[in-house]
Amino acid sequence: MITGRDFLALTDFSPQEITYLIDLAIRFKRGKVNTKKLTRIRGKTAALIFEKPSTRTRVSMEVACHHLGIAPMYIEAGTTQLARGEPLEDFARVLDRYVDIIAARVYSHSTLETLAKYAKAPVINALSDLEHPLQGLADLMTIKEHFGDFSNLIIAFVGDVNNNVARSLSIGVLKLGMEMRLVGPKEYWPKKEFKEILDRLAKEHNAKFLITDDPKEGLRDANVIYTDVWVSMGQEAEKEQRLKVFRPYQVNFELVKVAHPDFKFMHCLPRHRGEEVSDDLFESKHSIVFDQAENRLHTTKAVFASVLTSEKL
Ligand code: CP
Ligand code: NVA
Repeated sequence: MITGRDFLALTDFSPQEITYLIDLAIRFKRGKVNTKKLTRIRGKTAALIFEKPSTRTRVSMEVACHHLGIAPMYIEAGTTQLARGEPLEDFARVLDRYVDIIAARVYSHSTLETLAKYAKAPVINALSDLEHPLQGLADLMTIKEHFGDFSNLIIAFVGDVNNNVARSLSIGVLKLGMEMRLVGPKEYWPKKEFKEILDRLAKEHNAKFLITDDPKEGLRDANVIYTDVWVSMGQEAEKEQRLKVFRPYQVNFELVKVAHPDFKFMHCLPRHRGEEVSDDLFESKHSIVFDQAENRLHTTKAVFASVLTSEKL
C-alpha cells in the first residue's frame, strides 16, 4: 500500500493508509503477522541517522529492524563527512547505493526533503522541527487500543501546540475524523498557513478543530489530554521565556477538572520533570504513556515492513 514511499509527514497519507498502518502495527503487537511473509524484507539494510539525541526512536527502530531481519546502522550525523561540509545531496546519493531505508532525525525538515529528493530509498522522518509522524502513528494506535475505535473522541493537546508532536498528532486526529483541540498561549500558536491546513482537514474528514488559549474551553469533556515538553530540542536558547509563558498550562489535577472523568493522559516522552505535567498526574491511573512508548516499536515495524514490500502482511 505504501511500498517505496517516503514517510515524512502524516499529511502525505490517506486515512485508509494510516488506518492500514495502525492495524498492521496492532497485528505485529499481537504476534499475528505471518513472519514467513517477511522473506522479501530479510537481509535489507537501514541507515538510522541522528542529528539529535534519542531514546525511544533509536531503540525502537533498532529492535524493529532486528525483529524484521533488517540490519540497522546507527549513524550519528556529526561523525560523518556531513560534519566537514559534504553536500547533503551527495550524502543522500551515496547512502542510496548502500541501504534500503534511510531514517533521519534532523533539525530542519528541509534536510529530510533533500534526502528524499536525492535518494530513491524510502526516507523516514525520525523527528524534525515540523513533524514527528512515527510518534503520531503510535499515538493513534494507542488511542485505538484504549478506546476501541475513533468515534466521538475529543483529543486535547496542551502547551506548545505548534511543536512537531502536536502537529503530527493534529493531522492524524483530524484525518481519522476525531475532534482536535489545541490549547496553549497565543504567542506560540501555529502560523495561519498551518491553521488553514487543519481547518481544511477538519472539513474534508467531517472532524472538528478548535484552537484556544483557555484551558477550560479546550479541556472540557476531553477524552485524551496530551502534552509535550515546553522546550523542544533546538529551542534551548528560548528556555527562560518559554518556561514562563507555558507555566499556566501545566497538566495537573486542577487543570483537568473539566475533562471527561475517565480521560487518558498521553505524552510522547521524554518529559521534563516539574514542568509540563505534574508528577501525580503522570503516575496516575489516567496515564497511558508507557503503552504509547511501547507502540513506537510496533508502528515502526509496520512502516518499515510496508515501505519495503508490497506483499500483504
Ligand atoms: N518520543 C520520542 O521520539 O522519544 P526519543 O526522543 O527518545 O526518541
Ligand atoms: N517536541 C520534542 C519531542 C521529543 C520526542 C522535541 O522535539 O524535542
